[in-house]
Order: sequence, then C-alpha cells, then structure tokens
Amino acid sequence: MKKETTAFHGSDLEKIEAVYGIKKENIINFAANVNPLGFSKKAAGVLADDLSIISRYPDPAYTKLKNAISSYTNADSNNIILGNGVTELLSLFLSIINPLKAVVIGPTYSEYEKDLKRLGCEICHIDALETNNFVLTADEILKQTPSGTDLVILCNPNNPTSGALRRPELIKLAQAYQESETYLMIDETYVEFSKDSDEISSASLTNHFDHLLVLRGTSKFFATPGLRLGYALTKNAELLASAKAMQDPWNINSVAETVGSVMFTDEEYIHLVQKTMEDEKTYVCDALEKIDGMKIFPVNGNIVLAKLPKGSLTSDELFDILIRQGLMIRSCTSFQPLGNRFIRICFMSHEDNVKLINAMKDAL
Ligand SMILES: Cc1ncc(COP(=O)(O)O)c(C=O)c1O
Repeated sequence: MKKETTAFHGSDLEKIEAVYGIKKENIINFAANVNPLGFSKKAAGVLADDLSIISRYPDPAYTKLKNAISSYTNADSNNIILGNGVTELLSLFLSIINPLKAVVIGPTYSEYEKDLKRLGCEICHIDALETNNFVLTADEILKQTPSGTDLVILCNPNNPTSGALRRPELIKLAQAYQESETYLMIDETYVEFSKDSDEISSASLTNHFDHLLVLRGTSKFFATPGLRLGYALTKNAELLASAKAMQDPWNINSVAETVGSVMFTDEEYIHLVQKTMEDEKTYVCDALEKIDGMKIFPVNGNIVLAKLPKGSLTSDELFDILIRQGLMIRSCTSFQPLGNRFIRICFMSHEDNVKLINAMKDAL
C-alpha cells in the first residue's frame, strides 16, 4: 500500500501517470467533476463549420456572448464580466476588493484561501458541521461573521460537501451584507447540475443587491475545462469599472466566444445533461447508501460527499486501491477540517458509475 497522503486533484492526471504508471486515457475521472456527456454538439458543429474564427479577433465588446449569458442567467448583460474560468475571475475580484478581513465558509474549495493568503489578508473560517450535514443557515453565518469583515466567500452548491443554501437564505445574506457594506462573493460553479438551480442560484439577485458578486464557470456543467470560459455577475459600478480597467482587450479567445455563444442557448443539451445527472445521482447515492456503514450527505450538484465506514480503509487507502483499477476518486484529506475518512465523487456515465460502485464494494 502506498504511504503517501497527498490528495490528488481531479486535474492531476499527469501526476498520476508519473506516480502510478497509468496512462491518463485509461483513467475514469470521478474527481474532476466534469459532466461526462462532453460539450454541446451544436456548439461543436458551429466551430467545425468555421475554423477560420481562429484567424479573427473576437468582438471586443463580446455582445453576442454576453447576450447569450444574460438570457441564460436572467442577469443584466451590462453586469457581466468575462474571464478565463472562475479561477481568473476569483483572483481578479479578490485583488480589486483587496479585503483586509475575509470570511471563507467551509469546508470548501482551497483556492479561495490560497488567493486570500497571497493578498495577506486576515482569514476567518465559518465551518459547517458534520452533525448538521455540512449545511449552515444564513442566521448562523451572519451570527459568526466578525465585525469589520470586508468580504464573505460562499461556494453554492459547495465543493466538496454538495450542500446548498436556497433563495430565502441567500436573500437574507445579500440584504444583511448590503447593509454592512460587506462584499458577498458566491461561486456557482456547480449550480446548474441541481434540479433546483433556480432556487439555489443568486444570478438574478445581482440585479438587486450591489454588494453581491456571482462567479460562474463553464468547465463543469458544459464540459469545457479546456476552453477556460467563465463569467462574473454584479451590478456594483465600482467593481465593474475596476474589472474593465484591469482586463486586457480580447481576454476571451474567439473559440471560447463562438462555443459560448452557442452552448448557452442549446436547450436540448442542457436538459439532457440535467436529466442524465439526476438519474445517475439517484443510482450512485442509492448504491452508496447500501454499503454497510457508509454515510452520504445531501447532494445539490453533480458531486457527493461520503464518509467511509468506521474501522475500514482511510480515504487515501481507498484512493490507492481504486486508482490501480483506473478509477480516480477524490480523497478529501486536503479539505480542512474533513480528515481522512471522507471521499468525494462526481457522477459519470451509468456504465462507469456501476464500475466504481462494484469496485468500492469489493474494496470495503
Ligand atoms: C468550486 C470551484 N470553483 C472553481 C473551480 C475552477 O473552475 P474554472 O475551471 O471555471 O476555473 C473549481 C474547479 O474544480 C471548483 O471546484
């Protein structure tokens, strides 16, 4: 058994090749959280029909792309800032806000803390508890927010717990932080996977609350992590002006511009992804619950957090057994304060999900 406790990130396929000698093409990735259906065929068709777009500059105003995003999210097209994935928008807006004191609601995606540390700001953690299924209420968050907080970061639905706050709670937070002039940044990378996405998304709330900033990507739901396309939504005039001033012209390439303009309007594809993921969520969660001693937590995205049976393998040991079979799960040891008994998996094709469940049953 491998002793190393490094948790491999879902994009660490080259590292896995080097450590385990398994070709990345032979790995079924339950750790990258990318929809397994691939990207919109309609968008692929438009791209294939006109590869000459690569030889043209994109529209500097990105009017068509922004209009497509506006219809898709119900946010005003003037309130959209485009970026190279949520990753770039996160660091852009953190450097614009430049908080002295920030709250991170956890346990969550580690990039928030990494970026905040770079800015040298004070970081406070408000952690959801296992005893509450890793879900916090707006009242609990507000009660624990220290005075003088400039920024609160919430991932909704959250990675890795899959927990989510809903509309009334989100409005309560947006209202309270508006009054205290605290920025509320919500990362909605996983929101479209939820069948209640209208209830969980704060996109349309950005038309009303000007201390609210929503970050959205296309990597996961639209299966385009290589395109590096994301967008931020806010009506805050200062944030919009600073972002515009700091961004380079044509920061989104013409391939992302073309694919994005089409895929947000591909309703057939969007419904197919939602239906497939909903079916696979039911299959995977039911199967995990049948494993003796396994506990799963409420699911709102395309990921499920599971706690391994007491006295069985640790999450790193299970990772090690499964990766040797070409099945890559996420051991949650690096998500503080989860420790070594939690794993996170995303829903893949039915055939692949069956393979994973059978392998887990054998291993445990
Ligand atoms: C919560 C969360 N936000 C953002 C990202 C990065 O997204 P993007 O590819 O849009 O930069 C990830 C990637 O795993 C994530 O889990």
